[in-house]
Amino acid sequence: MSEMTAGIEALMADLYGPLPRQGPGNTASTRKAFSMLGPLPERPTVLDIGCGTGAQTIELAKLMPGHIIALDVFDWALDRVSEKVVQAGLVVRVRTTKQSMDAMDFREETFDLIWSEGALYIMGFENALRACRRLLKPGGYLVASEASWVRADPPQELRDFWAQGYPDMKSVEDNVELIRDCGFELVGHFHLPDRAWWDDYYAPMLKRLPGLREKYADSPDALAMFDECDTEMAIHKKYAKWYGYEFFVCGAE
Ligand SMILES: C[S@@+](CC[C@H](N)C(=O)[O-])C[C@H]1O[C@@H](n2cnc3c(N)ncnc32)[C@H](O)[C@@H]1O
Repeated sequence: MSEMTAGIEALMADLYGPLPRQGPGNTASTRKAFSMLGPLPERPTVLDIGCGTGAQTIELAKLMPGHIIALDVFDWALDRVSEKVVQAGLVVRVRTTKQSMDAMDFREETFDLIWSEGALYIMGFENALRACRRLLKPGGYLVASEASWVRADPPQELRDFWAQGYPDMKSVEDNVELIRDCGFELVGHFHLPDRAWWDDYYAPMLKRLPGLREKYADSPDALAMFDECDTEMAIHKKYAKWYGYEFFVCGAE
């Protein structure tokens, strides 16, 4: 790993690692999505893609008695998952793997359930749907939250913001169509409530930023990253009714 990559990774660990979640989401929404699933085997085999520090991984382990593989690319995230797993007495049922979601090393039809909160955009939602479809057993489920437009004709400032961050972001309706095109039956979907952006993600981030700005006062890269966080939150405050995260519950036919 180059020194620069290591530096960025350490900075990400410092900024995101201590937050309850590394993206929008909350326990109530994880539970709600889980409650929409049809029958699963008694002890399902589950993959959690882009698990971060594992908030939803631990919740899933509480919701069902199966085995979970928590996948992420960053050691700082996976190490925290492992700590939580030990604390929760879940070592026998939850393990971590360091893999990139666009090169996952699993056989076809391995999983009964694939879960991913706020992460599939990294490989592109369509690529992710197709990859997950192959990894699911017949009758399995994919549950994913995905950034989506919820209103047509967004203001220019907002369009410019997302053109930088996720130019391929689609409307909820287009994602529904895509899910069907990729061989899934849509069981249902719902919009992540606004508090799921704030309680476990933006609000704790806001609290940490002044201290981090002091700590990294000599690092222009770090300060630029903190500015981006501020911009993202300001955009969300101003334009939350135009976009959001949609939770999709999809059955592999
Ligand atoms: C927005 S965060 C969501 C984390 C967690 N699911 C949550 O909701 O709190 C996206 C996660 O994807 C991980 N990630 C980034 N690139 C990845 C890749 N290529 N393969 C797997 N995970 C990746 C990040 O480390 C991060 O934990």
